[in-house]
Amino acid sequence: MTSGKQTPGDTTSFGFRQVAEDARQRLVNDVFSTVAGRYDLMNDLMSGGLHRLWKDDLVAWLAPPKSAHRFDLIDVAGGTGDVTRRVLEAGGAGCRAVLCDINAAMVEVGRRRLAEAGAGERIAFAIGNAEALPFPDKSFDAYTIAFGIRNVTHIDRALAEAYRVLKTGGRFLCLEFSACEVPLLDRLYDFHSFEIIPRLGQLAAGSAEPYRYLVESIRKFPTQEPFAQMIRVAGFGRVNFRNLTGGIAAIHSGWRI
Ligand SMILES: C[S@@+](CC[C@H](N)C(=O)[O-])C[C@H]1O[C@@H](n2cnc3c(N)ncnc32)[C@H](O)[C@@H]1O
Repeated sequence: MTSGKQTPGDTTSFGFRQVAEDARQRLVNDVFSTVAGRYDLMNDLMSGGLHRLWKDDLVAWLAPPKSAHRFDLIDVAGGTGDVTRRVLEAGGAGCRAVLCDINAAMVEVGRRRLAEAGAGERIAFAIGNAEALPFPDKSFDAYTIAFGIRNVTHIDRALAEAYRVLKTGGRFLCLEFSACEVPLLDRLYDFHSFEIIPRLGQLAAGSAEPYRYLVESIRKFPTQEPFAQMIRVAGFGRVNFRNLTGGIAAIHSGWRI
């Protein structure tokens, strides 16, 4: 899932399957178009509500300023807006956010939810690919991506774009499923992932397939330290990470210095 030199016929992983590299994003988009209407319910069912605590941790680590001083966030792969909403609620009057996602169906759900939450003029929406963000260099004070980066075809291009759109001194934060490092919990987690989640998907959303992809894509994503190294290679400084729930998820942090 790195860019390298692309030649016709290159393949890449889509969950545990190999697919043509240029077909992968369309398959990912199909997954999220299928689940958009039930995404929030499924998120709660699949994680037992844990994703809410992890997102709270992400926002606590970002600590958006409480003042009226302007602070611009881009929440990439923002989907239905959970992280965007939390940042706006935690930040002061100067806090503004752009929710950017490649999938119009997910953004539509996000638009509705943020309107209900009263985000008003502090929020804007953009349809865009994390690998080629539709924003000028040095536009944002912070970049967040939650459960999004494992879906992009070229992680290194997405990281390079994160670096490009951040101002000097800007903060990168990524919340993603990672490698569970606690014995026994890892076995329980495997059972939950491969036996429970696809069945929940079948029952609650009428299809197991999208949820099988979500689980498989987690296993294909680089573990904590290799991912930290990719963030360093993209140019970020002071890179570190925190494990959540024994490493089932992790938050990676870096700064454009
Ligand atoms: C698992 S959802 C996460 C949504 C939200 N951040 C959250 O934590 O609830 C993943 C999101 O990534 C988006 N996505 C997938 N590939 C993308 C890409 N290349 N660029 C931007 N967004 C992408 C999907 O459309 C989907 O909304």
